[in-house]
Amino acid sequence: MQSTKDLLNNYDFGSTYRVDRWWSQPMGVFIGLSLFVIYGTARLLYPIFNPSAPGIEYGSLLSPFFSPLLFSVSPESHHALFGMFPTFWPELLRSPAILILWAPLGLRLTCYYYRKAYYRAFLSDPPACAVSEGRRYKYAGETRVFLFQNLHRYFVYLGIIFICVLTFDAIRALFWHAPPGAPFWTGDVELHVGTLILGLNALLLSGYTFGCHSLRYLVGGNSRCFSCVSNPENKGKDPTISKRYTLWRFASSLNVNHSTWAWFSLFMVAFTDFYVWMVSIGVWPDIILLKL
Ligand code: FES
Repeated sequence: MQSTKDLLNNYDFGSTYRVDRWWSQPMGVFIGLSLFVIYGTARLLYPIFNPSAPGIEYGSLLSPFFSPLLFSVSPESHHALFGMFPTFWPELLRSPAILILWAPLGLRLTCYYYRKAYYRAFLSDPPACAVSEGRRYKYAGETRVFLFQNLHRYFVYLGIIFICVLTFDAIRALFWHAPPGAPFWTGDVELHVGTLILGLNALLLSGYTFGCHSLRYLVGGNSRCFSCVSNPENKGKDPTISKRYTLWRFASSLNVNHSTWAWFSLFMVAFTDFYVWMVSIGVWPDIILLKL
C-alpha cells in the first residue's frame, strides 16, 4: 500500500483514502467568504454612489464597517471625527471605509485560522487533510509573496485598538438625543435593539481577537516556566497565579474555539452593518427596549 506522501505526490487532484465528505468544509468556507467579500465590497462602495443616504449611521448607532468614522460624506453626521471629506479627496474614493477597513481585513487575511481555511477553499493547496493536490505538489511553506503573513503580529495590535473603538461605539449607543454640539453623554439613556447589536458585535470580535494565536504568544511566550520560583514575576506570590499565566490561560480558552469565534464575529459584523444600514434608510425601526 502506498504511503500518504506517495499518494499526494503521484496521484491526481482530489485522490484520497478518505471516505468522508472532505470537500464540504472547503466548499462552505468558499461560499461564506465569497458572500462576505461581495457584501463588504458593495458596502464599501455604497457611500460613494449614495452620498445623500450613505447608510453609515443612525442617531447614536454607527456601522462597524465605518468605525472609527474619520471623515463623513454627509454634513449631518454625528460621529465624524474630522467633519466632511476634504475637497481635494477624489470623489471616487469618498467612502469612510476605505480609510480604516484595511486594518480588520488585514487581521483576518493573515489570521492563522483563515490562512488554513482559504488556502484550502480558494487555492486547493491542499484541498483538505490527506487529499492530493495533484502532481504539482511541492510544499514550499509561506515563503516569497506569502511572507506578508508575518505581519499578523502587528495587525493584532490594530485589532485590539478596533475592539476599544467598537466597545466605545456600543457604550455611546446608550445615549440618545444629545443637543447639537453637546457631549454625547448628556443625552437620554435609552437601550435600543441597535445598542444590543453593537454590544454583541464588540463582544464577538473581542472573543475572536483575544483568542489570537499571536496574542497568546505575546502574553505567554518567551517564558520557560510560569510557575518557576526563578521567574521574577512570581516573587513573593503564589507561583501558580502569575499575571502572565492568567492572561495566557484566558487567551488559550478562547483560542481553543478560534475558528468558531472567527465565523460568528464575521457574520455579526456584516449583520450589524446591515442593521444600521436598514434602520438609517427607514426599512425597519430601531425599537426602544428601555428608557431611563
Ligand atoms: S490567529 Fe486568528 S486573529 Fe490571530
